[in-house]
Amino acid sequence: MGRLRLGVLISGRGSNLQALIDACADPAYPAEIALVVSNVAGVQGLTRAADAGIATAVVDHREYDGRGPFEDALHAALADAGVELVCLAGFMRLLTDGFVARWHDRMINIHPSLLPAFKGLDVQQRAIDAGARFSGCTVHFVRPAMDAGPIIAQAVVPIHGDDDADTLAARILTQEHRLFPLAVRLIAEGRARVVDERVVIDGARAPAGALVNPEPA
Ligand code: GAR
Repeated sequence: MGRLRLGVLISGRGSNLQALIDACADPAYPAEIALVVSNVAGVQGLTRAADAGIATAVVDHREYDGRGPFEDALHAALADAGVELVCLAGFMRLLTDGFVARWHDRMINIHPSLLPAFKGLDVQQRAIDAGARFSGCTVHFVRPAMDAGPIIAQAVVPIHGDDDADTLAARILTQEHRLFPLAVRLIAEGRARVVDERVVIDGARAPAGALVNPEPA
């Protein structure tokens, strides 16, 4: 069976893209990146893709007359490249219901919180301000509502008493780089299926035990 063809959508730094590039460098990994699309020209993620010899495109939302034509161009680029799974990797544009419907169960997003908590922006500071003891990251199938949809995988990190948004973001990001390739692998292997708007994963094991923060004396 061929490798699943990914289209990775970015807007900036592209460190999650890099994690996927690194995973796909292993010939045994069941996916490959067919195309990287950025809605912003000149960003680091585009350089990462070019350095890896991956095709890139810039589809700048400002050059289109509204979201419909922008998304038509996005869709055409992905379809032309034979993309089978769209990966939103720090793609900072909201997508319309129409675009989301076209990629139903074929588009995933990574978000730096334990969804459904802390959707939207500035999520690390909001988790700290809420006094949460844990945060983390989530990979989920995309639905029309922002940062909503069936959850594929999550990773948890503790929040430290002296964390600021940057230190917490860095701790979460390290886990994002593990989680995104894992989620893509589960989909590419045909092991993750959406049933009644929840993801069922064949052969998945949950970790034993629990975490407590602060650690009990
Ligand atoms: C990541 O932390 C990702 O989870 C977040 O943007 C960052 C992109 O970093 N995405 C969102 O907040 C989407 N709601 P990267 O460009 O280095 O991968």
